[in-house]
Amino acid sequence: MSKPLWSGRFDSAPDPAAFDFGVSFPFDRRLFEDDVTGSLAWAEALGRAGVLDARDTKAITDALIEMLDKGRRDPAWVNGDDEDVHSFVERELVARVGDAGRRLHTGRSRNEQVSVDLRLYLRRRIPLLQAKLRAAITALADQAEQAGDALMPSYTHMRRAMPVLVSHFLLSHAAPLRRDQARLEAAREEANALTLGSGAIAGTGYAIDTAFLCEKLGFSRVVLNSMDASSDRDFAASFLHAVSLSMVHLSRIAEDFILMTGEEFGFFELADSSATGSSMMPQKKNPDPLELVRGKAGRAIGHLTGFLVTMKGLPTGYNKDLQEDKEPLFDAEDTLAVSLDATAAVVRNLTLHGDRTGRAAAGLLLATDVADYLVSRGMPFRQAHEVVGAMVRRLLAEKRDFEALTIDEWRQFSGLFGDDVKQHVTAAASVRVRKTPQSTNPDAVRAALAETRAWLARGASL
Ligand code: ARG
Repeated sequence: MSKPLWSGRFDSAPDPAAFDFGVSFPFDRRLFEDDVTGSLAWAEALGRAGVLDARDTKAITDALIEMLDKGRRDPAWVNGDDEDVHSFVERELVARVGDAGRRLHTGRSRNEQVSVDLRLYLRRRIPLLQAKLRAAITALADQAEQAGDALMPSYTHMRRAMPVLVSHFLLSHAAPLRRDQARLEAAREEANALTLGSGAIAGTGYAIDTAFLCEKLGFSRVVLNSMDASSDRDFAASFLHAVSLSMVHLSRIAEDFILMTGEEFGFFELADSSATGSSMMPQKKNPDPLELVRGKAGRAIGHLTGFLVTMKGLPTGYNKDLQEDKEPLFDAEDTLAVSLDATAAVVRNLTLHGDRTGRAAAGLLLATDVADYLVSRGMPFRQAHEVVGAMVRRLLAEKRDFEALTIDEWRQFSGLFGDDVKQHVTAAASVRVRKTPQSTNPDAVRAALAETRAWLARGASL
């Protein structure tokens, strides 16, 4: 067992059972790069404060750069029986530069260090998730473009509501993913504060220039309070929340396509490459990737919930409970990353059955358009609603729909129906009369698609 950083105070070596229980290196090795980055800046700050002389500063800096290089080239090297990644880096540093390495931890605590590492980690990793979000949004936009003027029913209460363009439906799933992009950006900015200089809890007694460190590490600000800083993990909770909500959105996309690619809907065809078979039933084409995305949303939400519960009872200051921040955070990140990849791949390879969606967009879901027709002829909407309700009742009983009615039959319900009513009561006419920019009006949807493309091209967060 490597000697812990704190062994001096103790008579005996730690009980392996207790020590192993507290070890975080198997998972916090992910922070290696960030730990070295933070240490490089710290060494320079100590040099500027006159704590390290120029020779020691240079020795430490050169060794850390060499280690960073080695770790990047060979991630398996970042390994051992150290307590955590900070201990590993220090041990390797001392092995290279001796006493200079033993001076690096002057005025610094692992409490502020682990926080700075996690903040640097999120800062560099969140953009990778954002790129994956953009890929998923691109897949939806590409499908929306290919769908052209195809029509489909929309649903409320899972019952046919009104006709919409298929492209409008597809872009309805791009909109929440764009909010996720912004939410992740906010989590990134929340993390973007420097904790170094906080010491273990009370601040550091050395002349550390925090403004310099902030600038050096690219943080937008220094934390407000050293006591708060040692146990503040709000940024981690915000990240877990952003990930959870994004997983909720992916889960809803998955649910829609699980339904719509099934036999009952048959609106889209799942590519063979996005499906799996059954070991027993030869006809099955199962949407496993979508189901897994839906299932994994529970796991992400569990990480957020679990972590908030970990935080809620902590007294002020660092407590070892905080080590429980990393595994949920890393797993949430991995879960969102694979789920975004899977969702983008499935969406990219969908085939639209426009004939089926078009057929499903006809019939009684045009009832609101019939009522609107009467309104356009002067009838109050409430009365029109009642007239059309009676028509629907009769059509249901006769197993017919609006298209089957002769003009005489239309007029039996209201003298306001003119010869032109049939032109007004089609799915295509229904979407054309929508007027607002967020509606399914074909011009509005074309503009929305163009705006989505422009947003993607900007690489923006909202
Ligand atoms: N592995 C610890 C964590 O993840 C690092 C901080 C340790 N600090 C301490 N006082 N034991 O939280």
